[in-house]
Amino acid sequence: MGAQQVRGVIARAKGEPVRIETIVVPDPGPGEAVVKVQTCGVCHTDLHYREGGINDDFPFLLGHEAAGIVESVGEGVTEVAPGDFVVLNWRAVCGQCRACRRGRPQYCFDTHNARQRMTLTDGTELSPALGIGAFAEKTLVAAGQCTKVDPAASPAAAGLLGCGVMAGIGAAINTGGVGRGDSVAVIGCGGVGAAAVLGARLAGAGRIVAVDIDDRKLETARGLGATHTVNSRSTDAVEGIRELTGGFGADVVIEAVGRPETYEQAFYARDLAGTVVLVGVPTPEMRIDLPLLDFFGRGGSLKSSWYGDCLPSRDFPMLIDLYLQGRLDLDAFVTETIGLDDVEAAFTRMHQGDVLRSVVVL
Ligand code: APR
Ligand code: ZN
Ligand code: ZN
Repeated sequence: MGAQQVRGVIARAKGEPVRIETIVVPDPGPGEAVVKVQTCGVCHTDLHYREGGINDDFPFLLGHEAAGIVESVGEGVTEVAPGDFVVLNWRAVCGQCRACRRGRPQYCFDTHNARQRMTLTDGTELSPALGIGAFAEKTLVAAGQCTKVDPAASPAAAGLLGCGVMAGIGAAINTGGVGRGDSVAVIGCGGVGAAAVLGARLAGAGRIVAVDIDDRKLETARGLGATHTVNSRSTDAVEGIRELTGGFGADVVIEAVGRPETYEQAFYARDLAGTVVLVGVPTPEMRIDLPLLDFFGRGGSLKSSWYGDCLPSRDFPMLIDLYLQGRLDLDAFVTETIGLDDVEAAFTRMHQGDVLRSVVVL
């Protein structure tokens, strides 16, 4: 077919508004696939790239929470074929690294992306966000970044499994190991935390306490399965959670903000021998200072959740099936659908906390 020219959302320089530009998508090489993007959610990480917070490899092709149809595949690709409906992921499991060889592919330490680069029309190489770059009509990825799921699912909802929603659900069901009857508290109920509430309900949690400083987020969390809410602007989070869990604290506390003060709340709001899951992402300057004795004396486990410890090949099709059975309300995360040229405005709404997800429909 040869290289194709399509429209994509580009961040040219730090802090500069994003623009739609023509990009060149090469034919897929060995192990690669070209995907016709149907939908792509707007995530904080896209904004973070735009603001130079990830690295300086401008220009970026943004977008990474996507679903679409495989258009063509390169040599040696067997896992997907043209016409497949896929959700894109940013962890193409390598099968070779020490985690993979030990049978823990969900931790793969050597995930890979397409080898060829997409470019601007003048040949400038693009850095695709999280190795995806899906605010574009078509994108080039490693075939392992495509996971085939039931095409009956709405692409707008399915694509969200590609990042934040999977991170939240996985923080509860994979990392936190939430089981039937467990009490769970989720601190921070944005896109990730709200998904953790959904995951906790799916896993059969008894009490689910949603904590946030924004009443709108608490309202959404309640709709997704939170049995109780605590506004931690007016009520002490630790006291609030303890009060709702017999005075003891929750079995699993999920921290979906990524700040020292909320981590400390999570640490003290769990029951003895309970679990804390950190899924919010801190920044490099953040520090935490706690008595070491409390780490020992409270027992249990303190875990971090990378991408919800998901294994796309295992988790995406399973979650899509549950969605199609009406047991996992992924549609609730699609606050609005927008066009490719609305991404900049969607950043503003996201920043103001007005949306769970704006989803670009192509
Ligand atoms: N206590 C409780 N909730 C808080 C606090 C706080 N001190 N500060 C912020 N929040 C709430 C916000 O009101 C919001 O509802 O945390 C939520 C954060 O949600 P989003 O901004 O939508 O972010 P989200 O996409 O959910 O990501 C959360 O996970 O992936 C990481 O980088 C991401 O660190 C971020 C975190
Ligand atoms: Zn690996
Ligand atoms: Zn994301």
